[in-house]
Parts: sequence; structure tokens; C-alpha cells
Amino acid sequence: MKVLSISLQKGGVGKSTITANLAVGLSRIINSRERILVVDMDHQGNLTYQMLGNPAEIDKTAIELFNVEGKYKKTDIVHNTRFKNLEIIPSNLSLSKAELYTSQIINAHTRLNDYLHQVVFMYDYVIIDCPPSLGLFTLNALISSDYVMIPVVPEKYAVMAVSQMMETIKIARSFNDKLQLAGIVPSILDMRYRIHRSTMDTLKANFGNLLLTDYYIGTNAPLKDAANVKKTIFEYETRAASYKQFQNLAQYVYRLLRADENAEKGS
Ligand SMILES: Nc1ncnc2c1ncn2[C@@H]1O[C@H](COP(=O)(O)OP(=O)(O)OP(=O)(O)O)[C@@H](O)[C@H]1O
Ligand SMILES: [Mg+2]
Repeated sequence: MKVLSISLQKGGVGKSTITANLAVGLSRIINSRERILVVDMDHQGNLTYQMLGNPAEIDKTAIELFNVEGKYKKTDIVHNTRFKNLEIIPSNLSLSKAELYTSQIINAHTRLNDYLHQVVFMYDYVIIDCPPSLGLFTLNALISSDYVMIPVVPEKYAVMAVSQMMETIKIARSFNDKLQLAGIVPSILDMRYRIHRSTMDTLKANFGNLLLTDYYIGTNAPLKDAANVKKTIFEYETRAASYKQFQNLAQYVYRLLRADENAEKGS
């Protein structure tokens, strides 16, 4: 099992969009025996909405990892999706309770990691959508992960936001020394804007090859329209630019995670 978090503390950079579309893109290229789990670690439930429907109507969710309500068995929180070989641990507003009661939860920051250890033989790939903050849930995600991918919109504060994220990754590494950076993905990119062009240059100067210039996700109206009707681009518009871009990004992630897995098996 290989675990990838999609994370940046800044809001609205496309984390949930990338998690959903990347996971579905990946589900289309893995072999039929492999399985993917996506985890919504954001109480906004945007990923849940896109994969399952109204988060408020779902009652077996990620909050159970923290035993705050303790109504369900942990295995009950995994839900099937309409996609082959792709399951989800959803979230809704109830997740915020874990942050309110953190001091009363034993090992609060390793709850997701502890859970994933229990299901390690059930899934090959786990993709975690993080909230726009650096609190309990992002830390849970990073402590559970082999890789973290940082989506960034090349606008004002982008460089600062990524630098802060790098600091957070350092902190997470003190709990999880296997955590590696999968790269910085330019997201909602529109090179017609001068600010996007100049910020891409600055990001490149600061982060070098960590900036995945070959795997960007451009601004794309069909992608947004698809999300509005609870769909991924793969179900919505095969001719959209973002369709190809998500295929590319999924190939990149597949190669990265599989190479890692094979190296482990070989050693
Ligand atoms: N490539 C894109 N082109 C056009 N619109 C996009 C693109 N990516 C995301 N969006 C839209 O931008 C908004 C924010 O995207 P999204 O919810 O994925 O960001 P986020 O980083 O998960 O936000 P939050 O930090 O609040 O969780 C959504 O309305 C989404 O549909
Ligand atoms: Mg989100």
C-alpha cells in the first residue's frame, strides 16, 4: 500500500478537484486486482460530495477514526463509489468535533495512520484530500503518507504558501521519516495571466524540479461544470483539456507509487 496526500494549507487551490479526478484517473489505469481508497480529511466534505453525494446525509464517516462518537465499527466507514476498485472514507461537518476534543483523544495525530495499518492488505493506493489548514487532520494525513503532492495556483502568496507547507512537511517528518515530496503541481493554471507566468518563474527558481511543469492542471470550465453536477471530468467531457491533463497526472502518480512499491518488494 502506498499513500499520497494532496495538501496545501491555502484554500481553493484545487486540492479536492485533484484528489477526485486523480483517483478516478488512477482507477482507470491500475490492473483489475488493485484497489484504491480515497480519504476525505476535510469537514467541508467537498470530495465526499463529488464521490458520494450530500455529506450531511452520510453518517458513517471519518470522525469514527477519532472515536468521538464511537457509534460504528471502523470498517463501516469505507463506502463503495460508482467507480470500479475505488472506495472512500467520507467526511462531513461532524469531523470538526475531533479538533474540538483533541486533548481528550489518545494518539489523536496518528489515528488515520493506525487505521491504514489495519487495512494495509486491502488497498494498493490511498489518496488523502487535506483541509485548508495545518491542524490535526493535515498532520494525520502527512503522518500516514509516503508522498505529499502540493497543488499551487501561481498567484500572490503562492511561494510563501509552498514554503510554509515545506516547513510543515519537516515537522511531519519528525513523526514519519518516510514522507517524500511527490511534487508541486501548478493548478488552475492560466498562462494568459502575467501573474501566473511570473509566479511560475519564481516557483521554478525556488523549487527547481520539484515544480511539475509537465503535469499541470490548467484552468478549465468543463472541470468546474463537472464538479457542479457531482462528476469527474472522466464522466463528463472527454474532449476537455483537463481530461488529458488528469490522465497525465494519474500516469505520473502510478509510475511513482508503483516504482516505490516494486523497489520495496525487490529489496
Ligand atoms: N483546474 C480548474 N479549472 C477551473 N476550476 C477549477 C479547477 N480546479 C478547481 N476548480 C474550482 O475551484 C474551486 C476550488 O477548488 P477545490 O475545491 O478543488 O479547491 P480546494 O483546494 O480543495 O479548496 P479548499 O481549500 O476549500 O478545500 C472549485 O469551485 C473548483 O470547481
Ligand atoms: Mg478541498
